[in-house]
Amino acid sequence: MLYYPLLRLHQYSNQLSLVLVKNLKKYTTMELKPPESVYLMTTLNRNVFDKPSTVPLLHIGNTKVSSILPIIKKLLLKMENFKPITHDDDKGTSIYLNPEIIKNWTDLPEDVRQSLEELNVQVTNFKLEEITLKYENFSSESIFKAVLPKDKEGVSSFTKVGHIVHVNLREHLLDYKNLIGEVLLDKVKGCKSVVNKLNMIDNTYRYFQMEVLKGTDNMLTTLKENNCKFEFDFSTVYWNSRLCTEHERIVKALNPGDILFDVFAGVGPFSIPAAKKNCIVYANDLNPESYKWLIHNKKLNKVSDDCFKGFNLDDAFIGLFEADINPITLYVYCFAKGENPEEIARNLIKENFKIKNVDIDSKITDIFRVRTVSSMKEMMRVTLKLDRDILVGVPDDKKRKSETLNEDVQLKKSCIDKNGQEQEEKQQCVQSSRSQEFKNEIQS
Ligand SMILES: C[S@@+](CC[C@H](N)C(=O)[O-])C[C@H]1O[C@@H](n2cnc3c(N)ncnc32)[C@H](O)[C@@H]1O
Repeated sequence: MLYYPLLRLHQYSNQLSLVLVKNLKKYTTMELKPPESVYLMTTLNRNVFDKPSTVPLLHIGNTKVSSILPIIKKLLLKMENFKPITHDDDKGTSIYLNPEIIKNWTDLPEDVRQSLEELNVQVTNFKLEEITLKYENFSSESIFKAVLPKDKEGVSSFTKVGHIVHVNLREHLLDYKNLIGEVLLDKVKGCKSVVNKLNMIDNTYRYFQMEVLKGTDNMLTTLKENNCKFEFDFSTVYWNSRLCTEHERIVKALNPGDILFDVFAGVGPFSIPAAKKNCIVYANDLNPESYKWLIHNKKLNKVSDDCFKGFNLDDAFIGLFEADINPITLYVYCFAKGENPEEIARNLIKENFKIKNVDIDSKITDIFRVRTVSSMKEMMRVTLKLDRDILVGVPDDKKRKSETLNEDVQLKKSCIDKNGQEQEEKQQCVQSSRSQEFKNEIQS
């Protein structure tokens, strides 16, 4: 029992006890894990998870729980669907402790025992009880650890998109896919469907093929992000819940009245909260389905036409940069595979933004790691300040379009700035007809 030497150490110093309680977690035993008999189970049999366990508890009689709880909080038996504090009219209150840390009264850190004794809770209040842990008590993580092959990567992570949980199972886990689906359906709060990615995202629209492992095949989902509501069909558009923080960061960096050109907008996770913040938003996506849900979400969040315009075009804003909007901050997202992701991202920008007589490197103001995709793959954000020496050389036909849009932008800006109702409505008409003109021109 590896934890004993540590506990003894603590007896020499009260100061050490906190550290020790923390460290003890590393020295856990098998007590709270599912039984070994579930190893390599491919069809979920919940009964096989029953596990008789001896657990310690304190009968505290009528002593107040609120006075004891702060002392033993870290030592409680914490399992899913298990209440560590119970009340019985005859026995009074019982507090269950973690059997992986505590096996008898002297396993309790000395300062804990002292504090308990001051409250009249002592060795005679300490008992051991036989209970049966069940499937309901184990987390999905501990179930997967107990069931899946130990020598290979397990279900490392999953993400939740509204009622849909999606996983990306490696080849060696496919034999267990039904069990994995069933466990996630049982364990993840609000989950009604578990899907597995069937391919890498390689299409233009960036959504992936998937297989429903368990639950409903309804992929129409609703979720909340950054105080906005989003609805979409997960089988036809791109959505990644792991980008929530990045969406939030960019929206936070914007100020009311700023103009956002969201060129690859998806269903609107940057654009909708930005418009709610009174930014002027031009949002575009090439995927007709994304565009449909983008407009739907705009309405769902009661975003006014005054500050939002959607487009369903290919790279809609080429030529826009000639407009006299200063300064333009460009956020470029890319993936960097390798040891120095910052350097890789910088080189990607240098290779892909080749502009005559312009040192693009000098325009890079920030390189930021958005998230780790896998052990050697980072999603990166490169920030560039675009000035006029970058934005020259737009063909004449594009120039006219950008001028029209530029006027449009100015109008929208004054719209936001002013408070007079009449003024606003007048400008709204002018602006929407100009937007239509711009759209028609681009599409022709
Ligand atoms: C990685 S997703 C990002 C969506 C959104 N920004 C988000 O964070 O959820 C990229 C989006 O770009 C769109 N897209 C791909 N090629 C495009 C193009 N040439 N012009 C406009 N949109 C495009 C895809 O349909 C997809 O919705």
